[in-house]
Amino acid sequence: MAELKEISPDAPVGAKLLNWVDNRFPASKLYKEHIGEYYAPKNFNFWYVFGSLALLVLVIQIVTGIFLTMNYKPDAAQAFGSVEYIMRDVPWGWLIRYMHSTGASAFFIVVYLHMFRGLIYGSYRKPRELIWIFGCAIFLALMAEAFMGYLLPWGQMSYWGAQVIVNLFAAIPFIGPDLALLIRGDYVVGDATLNRFFAFHVIAVPLVLLGLVVAHLIALHEVGSNNPDGVEIKATKDAKGNPLDGIPFHPYYTVHDIFAVSVFLLVFTAIIFFAPEAGGYFLEYNNFIPADSLKTPSHIAPVWYFTPFYSMLRAITGEMMYALVACVVAAAAFTVLKSRLAAMFKIGVLVAAAGLIAVMLMIDAKFWGVVVMGGAVIILFFLPWLDNSEVKSIRYRPDWHKYMYATFVVVFIVLGYLGIKPPSPINERVSQVGTLFYFGFFLLMPWWSRLGTFKRVPDRVTFAAH
Ligand code: HEM
Repeated sequence: MAELKEISPDAPVGAKLLNWVDNRFPASKLYKEHIGEYYAPKNFNFWYVFGSLALLVLVIQIVTGIFLTMNYKPDAAQAFGSVEYIMRDVPWGWLIRYMHSTGASAFFIVVYLHMFRGLIYGSYRKPRELIWIFGCAIFLALMAEAFMGYLLPWGQMSYWGAQVIVNLFAAIPFIGPDLALLIRGDYVVGDATLNRFFAFHVIAVPLVLLGLVVAHLIALHEVGSNNPDGVEIKATKDAKGNPLDGIPFHPYYTVHDIFAVSVFLLVFTAIIFFAPEAGGYFLEYNNFIPADSLKTPSHIAPVWYFTPFYSMLRAITGEMMYALVACVVAAAAFTVLKSRLAAMFKIGVLVAAAGLIAVMLMIDAKFWGVVVMGGAVIILFFLPWLDNSEVKSIRYRPDWHKYMYATFVVVFIVLGYLGIKPPSPINERVSQVGTLFYFGFFLLMPWWSRLGTFKRVPDRVTFAAH
């Protein structure tokens, strides 16, 4: 047993209490390591507030979720009515419900901005690969959480959205139909589906999410934060071993983050009080109609945060499969003609490509749509190994890289917009081009990220006091 630290009998009661605790639980040590003496780069900017905001929204969702659960009924005959009861009769129920529904969209806004920051400053690169991978797993868990939560109000969109997405699993060869049955617990979305989605939404996925967030932060504090210059601040330390370009998280970044929290809460409350449906984007109008298994809405669209991926799913038509086959042919031809692989491997590449093309043409395009939609998220996990650029931060990359990232953002937003709209021939074509750009951006990154003239990265972070 470690020796107990003594404290003067004249010390204030608070100090004595803390000493008592510290001798049994590392409270002061944890505070020092993760807050008081956690040295963060002094050049953090606006982009660095979204991690704390994501934590805030996570807490809001958990707390409001607990209160919603007190009055919600996970029963197909009562769910819709219980939500209306929360909205009309439960004291402050409307506020709790709007906080939770607005919180879901806020979560995705904050997390998308947080991910974008990682992208532009190369925060996923060595030694931060695991922070990024935990982040991607958080993103997946968040998507599952939002998808299952959306079924709970048992409105038309809840019902038919779940029906469409669960049916996608049925497109998987061999196991698909049984897998869809297993997810639903019935031949159609029904009471059994609602019960299991409720269990996953209120306990299973939140537990996973919390565990992943803790792992994300432990990994972050192990290696230290990146910054807008992409300079490793641990490389230059003072005599005490603290980074010269670092400042303690508290008070500097607690103040920075409290300011961000204030601005966030202003916008968040404005939406809750004045536009909780956000024009049908945060709460879809069709979801104010109770679920009816006999009446399919004329237009089914997921909530906005899923629509970029939904667009990619819809982009994969029979015709698009030929474009994808052409991509496989081009990739195989390029490997055979340009690479210095041994002849045997080149033959292997050709055989593998021919096999892949045969499978692509044999299985229905709907299945490949599901693969593309899933692949669009899975590919993010590999980003640390796709980026070969000489520098981390966008600041020191060739200017055309900035245009590349800007185009990526525009494509992602356009895909999101098209995913909300009903299908049309022109929308389909645009989303096909967008899908090709999205995957081209990542799959060709090992090549394009190396090209161009890079700027010299300074040894120390650049910072102008304001
Ligand atoms: C519930 C969701 C999340 C929470 C609560 C969360 C929390 C945080 C916090 C508090 C930080 C430190 C502050 C900051 O750098 O902004 C951070 C850093 C980071 N997060 Fe997250 N995060 C979440 C999701 C994600 C996702 C989805 C990704 C990427 C796929 C991601 C990638 C990163 C990276 C790469 C860093 C290090 C950034 C740097 O040092 O430049 N996070 N996160």
